[in-house]
Amino acid sequence: MNTFLILLTLSISILLHLAQCHIIDEHTNIDLVELELDQTVLKQKQSRFRVYWHDIQSGNHPSSMPIVKPVTKMGFGQVNMMDNPLTLGPKLSSKAVGKAQGFYGMASQEEVGLLMAMNFFFITGKYNGSSITILGRNAVFDHMREMPVIGGSGLFRWARGYVQARTHDLDLKSGDATVEYTIYVMHY
Ligand SMILES: *[C@@H]1O[C@H](CO)[C@@H](O)[C@H](O)[C@H]1NC(C)=O
Repeated sequence: MNTFLILLTLSISILLHLAQCHIIDEHTNIDLVELELDQTVLKQKQSRFRVYWHDIQSGNHPSSMPIVKPVTKMGFGQVNMMDNPLTLGPKLSSKAVGKAQGFYGMASQEEVGLLMAMNFFFITGKYNGSSITILGRNAVFDHMREMPVIGGSGLFRWARGYVQARTHDLDLKSGDATVEYTIYVMHY
């Protein structure tokens, strides 16, 4: 009788163990499926571009406008959404090469220090449809500001790099600004 009970307990525990294994197997089945990669060796390129970024806050067709109100007198907390023209030369009327789409927020309580998150979306030549993503800190009144390029799409896949921003024109009354952006980017 005792032997029978021991055997019964043993077989039950073995069955339970098998059931558990089955559950685990089910889980591994829904794991990520690794896709085959094109193993062509790609050559990394380094490119440098210069564009002018226009933050137009005045007039009937602003390209940049506040979407969140500031919480302090100094402006801390304000957020602007932008669809800013990018041009080849400093004049707004010069050749349009793309748009800077995204937002910037007043992230410093001591100075005008922005957090910028934007995509430079290009519309010209072979770069048409490609974009780079910039995320960084912009102390607007510094002569030169540097922000990281954290990624890209299209011809800028795998992009890494940085931009240097220099104010070309700033109208303190209207807030309108033209900023020269030099983009240094590694991509494939
Ligand atoms: C850019 O691409 C869009 C959509 O594919 C197309 O309509 C447009 O004509 C292209 N522009 C240039 C300058 O190639």
